[in-house]
Amino acid sequence: MSKTSVNEESVGVLESRMKAFRQHSLNLDLTRGKPSPEQLALSDSLDGILDGDYRLENGTDARNYGGLRGIPEARRLGAQLLETDPDNVIVCGNSSLQAMHLVMDTAMNHGLFHERYSDLGPTRAVVPVPGYDRHFTLTESFGIEMISIPMTATGPDMDALEEVIASDTQCRFLWCVPKYSNPTGCVYDPDTVNRIAALPSKAPGPLLILWDNAYAVHDFDLPKKELAPILTFARDHRTEDSVIMFASTSKITFAGGGIAFIGGSQNTLQAIESRLEVMTIGPDKVNQLRHAKFLNGRLEDHMAAHARILKPKFDAVERCLQQHLGNRDLATWTRPEGGYFVALSTPPGFANQVVAMAATAGLALTPAGATFPYSHDPEDSVIRIAPTFASTSEIETAIEVLAVCLELSIRTGS
Ligand SMILES: Cc1ncc(COP(=O)(O)O)c(C=O)c1O
Repeated sequence: MSKTSVNEESVGVLESRMKAFRQHSLNLDLTRGKPSPEQLALSDSLDGILDGDYRLENGTDARNYGGLRGIPEARRLGAQLLETDPDNVIVCGNSSLQAMHLVMDTAMNHGLFHERYSDLGPTRAVVPVPGYDRHFTLTESFGIEMISIPMTATGPDMDALEEVIASDTQCRFLWCVPKYSNPTGCVYDPDTVNRIAALPSKAPGPLLILWDNAYAVHDFDLPKKELAPILTFARDHRTEDSVIMFASTSKITFAGGGIAFIGGSQNTLQAIESRLEVMTIGPDKVNQLRHAKFLNGRLEDHMAAHARILKPKFDAVERCLQQHLGNRDLATWTRPEGGYFVALSTPPGFANQVVAMAATAGLALTPAGATFPYSHDPEDSVIRIAPTFASTSEIETAIEVLAVCLELSIRTGS
């Protein structure tokens, strides 16, 4: 595939390049925000690591029922990810999304502390956009209306967010992906974290901060980028019962076979434990033990191994976007220092068309709009690029196709 710059090419040339892409019967996919097989292989020694010894440090048999909050050694791992104390962590099953569902369901239908939100009239949630589509689906599934707030390079637009929170009496949830946000890759700065921690004290009604730290240790370079500790700020603001943190090992070990964590105050954990008690006699402590044995004391080395696989892929995205679209006012894009995504912004009105055109050339992209509530990007401009699963050469070709589709769409003005 040609690496020639598309600078100053005519529509005719772009069309013939599209024709060539189509003739190659490409089968490229930048939709998959999941680890590559090479990344998964980094954790293959999880299998067999217990070697018949199922005893915890404290002598408990991991194979039996019990231990709703999770085993101590896995709680320590969760505490490292969430940068809090092990006492502030519950270890759950294989999915943090499921834990988020549990928390929302508890707050809406059972009452986290006092009243059930469903008894307080219509509930709304604030979502920074672009954001994570599964947060939106989850929120919508509870019949909760979403209010969008623009994302900036340092986190949500805080002035806009504070205004909404102070004035909207029905706003009960705020979604945050504070480090290497999906899809822009931004990291919330300390002032933003502090202002978010203060929000529940300014809200006219109860407000829960859902702090989804899915990419807490997913840095491309060491030392890792620091994220200010929201729970510490929340203690200062006396809002700690209103901040609930989440993380998992889905993108550290096995995406389908990891462990997930909930972090929060003792009051919060007690309320969640009461719901867990109804649902299960205990989590999969065997998998928790495997993970603790595998990761405790070597998490940083393990994440550095991920970074050695991922960084060249993100470098390829940046290099190719720069080569094909750089300095030409055709698009802007983010340059994350970790995480799983790059967000590309086209001029308003082009994202859908570019995604559709790319499909005709054999390149699958996440549907335009997916990173907005109700799948509606009002500007029709954000395209999410997920390069972790593809090979570097596939990424190079995919970005070239994307660039040609974008330029052709803009030049033909349709
Ligand atoms: C921001 C964010 N949160 C949560 C998840 C899913 O986490 P889990 O596999 O623990 O359910 C993802 C997966 O892409 C994600 O991007």
